[in-house]
Amino acid sequence: MKFSIALISGDGIGPEVTAWAVAALEKSVRSSGCSFDFIPLKAGGAAIDETGSPLPLETLETAKQCGAVLLGAMGGPKWDKGQVRPEQGLLALRSGLGVFANLRPAALLPPLRSACPLKPEISGAGGAAGFDMLIVRELTGGIYFGAHGRERIARDGGETETAAFDTERYSSGEIERILRVGYSCAGSRRKKLCIVDKANVLESSRLWREVGERVSKDYPDIETSYLYVDNAAMQLIRAPVQFDVIVTSNLFGDILSDEASVLTGSIGMLPSASLAGVPRSGGADGGTGGAHILGLYEPIHGSAPDIAGQDSANPLAAILSAAMALRYSFNMEKEARAIEAAVTAVLDAGLRTKDIASRDGDSGNERIVGTKEMGEAVLAALE
Ligand code: IPM
Ligand code: MG
Repeated sequence: MKFSIALISGDGIGPEVTAWAVAALEKSVRSSGCSFDFIPLKAGGAAIDETGSPLPLETLETAKQCGAVLLGAMGGPKWDKGQVRPEQGLLALRSGLGVFANLRPAALLPPLRSACPLKPEISGAGGAAGFDMLIVRELTGGIYFGAHGRERIARDGGETETAAFDTERYSSGEIERILRVGYSCAGSRRKKLCIVDKANVLESSRLWREVGERVSKDYPDIETSYLYVDNAAMQLIRAPVQFDVIVTSNLFGDILSDEASVLTGSIGMLPSASLAGVPRSGGADGGTGGAHILGLYEPIHGSAPDIAGQDSANPLAAILSAAMALRYSFNMEKEARAIEAAVTAVLDAGLRTKDIASRDGDSGNERIVGTKEMGEAVLAALE
């Protein structure tokens, strides 16, 4: 079997880190009878420079034909001030592929306990298991895609001034489908689901709660809870072990997943999967149970232009995103776990990129390495 994977390395550190994700994917399937055909495509800043568009039509059309899309990062200061920005390409890609469900797992890996900024008794590092949560972020709706614009409005005294607006709008169908993804994932985890909203203020959040109350009845074995987003932001730091699956809107998920990433040691550790369907319960972490779901796989860290080209980026989030591609788009749970185990083994052996160096002064067996050495070590551990 040969599967095609669209490869959008993108900007900044994107190409450096995705190269290792590609290598890990190739190596992980070498004895499975499957192979991958990587199709390089342009999007983001690189595509603006070449074509004027952050998402050329050809990129989207080709990506749709593939089994999965592997993405590095998009954006950089070079394009920040222009009318056309790389981030527009990323949003158009997510929307064009219909990948509405963004899974962002954030767990405290045992070897990274000392990179977590929380005290061990709070992170869970002192006890048997550290925190282990999955943020399920709605990705193709809400304020990112609602009506936005600028207008001139009247000011006191007859003058006018500029006003700008963005709109948070969710349909019950959009809410229901993301909740079902959350429930499906919770079913194969610790069976707890927390819906995060701002229902004390926002009408759209009140609809999230209404739909939540209806849909939760279909999942009696899963404990459903609700939190306001301000409280959730606090609880993440106060007691992260309480969370299993968090389901939330596009904007709240964007913010909370950056917050959660810091608890894992570094944003350089967090992979993500954005899926166009509901993964079936059953596999670890809600694997597909046999189905192939189109997915977009990307580290959540962004293009980090300040460290691009210096061999210091952490390739692990990209490599772990590749593992998620195996799990959700190709139904290869065994191979996905092999990549995750290789990452843990390398961390156990003490290898650290700068971002995940110990913070508590106890560097033990740690050795700081660059992108290349880290990538090579993961490949070697995949033997
Ligand atoms: C993310 C990023 C993007 C987002 C940006 C780059 C548009 O922050 O994937 O979390 O806001 O979704
Ligand atoms: Mg973000």
